[in-house]
Formats: sequence, C-alpha cells, structure tokens
Amino acid sequence: MIDKNTLTSNIIVFAKELDASRAVAKQIQQAIVAKQSAGQPIVLGLATGNTPKLVYQELVRMHKNEGLSFENVITFNLDEYYPMMPSHQLSYHNFMNIHLFSHVNMLPENINIPYGQWSKAELIEKCKIYDEKIQQLGGIDIQLLGIGRNGHIGFNEPGSTMDTCTRLIDLHETTRNDAAKDFEGLHNVPYQAITMGIQTITSARKILLLALGERKSVIVHKALTGEITSDVPASYLRVLPQIEFIFDKEAAALINR
Ligand code: GLP
Repeated sequence: MIDKNTLTSNIIVFAKELDASRAVAKQIQQAIVAKQSAGQPIVLGLATGNTPKLVYQELVRMHKNEGLSFENVITFNLDEYYPMMPSHQLSYHNFMNIHLFSHVNMLPENINIPYGQWSKAELIEKCKIYDEKIQQLGGIDIQLLGIGRNGHIGFNEPGSTMDTCTRLIDLHETTRNDAAKDFEGLHNVPYQAITMGIQTITSARKILLLALGERKSVIVHKALTGEITSDVPASYLRVLPQIEFIFDKEAAALINR
C-alpha cells in the first residue's frame, strides 16, 4: 500500500538551472568514468525536450575540454513522435544529433532511438525488441527524465500504469499544445508517439528527473505531494529508492513552501 503522503527525501534544489544541469551532467560523467575504469560499458536512458539541453551542452564541454570519452556509452532514448522521419527537423533523432551525438565520440551502433517509421504491423514486435535489448545489456544504469506539464514521463501520458512497456501511445492534448509552437501550429503536431513504458523506465538503477522553471512548479508539486496515481505518471517515481529529483528554485517553488 503506497502512502499518498510519502514525500521522497531525494530532492535537490539549485538556485540556477545551469547549476542543476551541471549537477546532472557531473553524475553522468562520474558514472561513465567509473564504468570505464572497470572496463565496462554504461547504459544511459536519454530524454529530449528543452530541459536536458544544458546537460548535453555540459557533457559536450566535458568531452571537448576534459577528454570525457563516450566510447563505452550505450544509449536508449525514451521516445519519438509517430509517425516521424528521423531526418525531420523536429524528430528526436535530429534533436539528439544536434545536442549530443554529433559532438561526442559515440559509436553509431550504440545509439538506440525508437524509430518513427516502424509500420503498424511491426510496431508491437519492434517495441518488444527495444525492451529486450535493454534487458540483454543488463538494464539502464542511469535514466535521465524531464516531466511534462501533465505529469508525463517520456511520453507516458496520464492513464499510463506502472506495468507499461515500450509502446505506441496517443498524445494528450496538453502535450500536443505544448509542442504546437515548435511545429508551427497544432495541426502539424503528430497525434502519437512511441515511448518507453513506465516499467522500462523504473527498472533503471538510477533515475534523475530534472525539472526547470516556473512553468513546471505546479506539476512538480502535484507529482511530489499529490496522490500516487496513473493520472500523474511522474507520481510513481517518488517511492522509488533510486530516484533523485533535481530542480531549480523556480520549479521547486511550490514544494518549498
Ligand atoms: C516532451 C518529452 C518528454 C519531456 C517533456 C518535457 O514531450 N517527450 O520526454 O520530458 O515533454 O519537455 P520540456 O523539457 O521541453 O519541458
């Protein structure tokens, strides 16, 4: 039985978004280096959206200025719009290339992103293979997450339950509205996406949820202090021992009170 009053103690609040982002990048760097010292690969679960941009910027800086190598890094992205061409300007494939992959020494074969062109007939099987590949590699070591204004993680929209795996999902109205500006109009925003499931995400050994800015303060408050429910998928995270919530003070404003 989950106590709805449970408030995780794993919350770190930084004065500035840059400091919060740097703290996340530092944890990722340390984990990559530790695995390198042990001669092992590391499996990272990666997010898109505005929130992780400074994290990726900092990781690129570490690669260029401090010699951080990505040769042992295997990545699995959380999600991709559907349908979506990888070459589309607003695809998450393109996002990852622009913000991280094209700047570091990742091996192309170590990059995994749900493919927005899988046919409807093969989708279920391809999603299953995506999850199986993660498991075969020993699971995700660090999962980076943002949070949608409706409490989604990845594209696990309200209604997504704890036992969900990688799958096709209908995008929520709030999510499509939030994406409308980037797509230059709501009518251009895809209606669906492929997302890792909540079970896939919560199986990670470490989860770092980053939320920045005042526009996330209401959902951060709801996810951390409201009912633990599929209506707010991020609320599932706060009872996990491996979660760390990293906020700037604007995002944390309502929980600070
Ligand atoms: C997007 C992504 C999520 C992301 C969230 C928040 O739709 N699928 O992975 O965490 O919405 O986006 P942003 O960081 O731009 O606020």
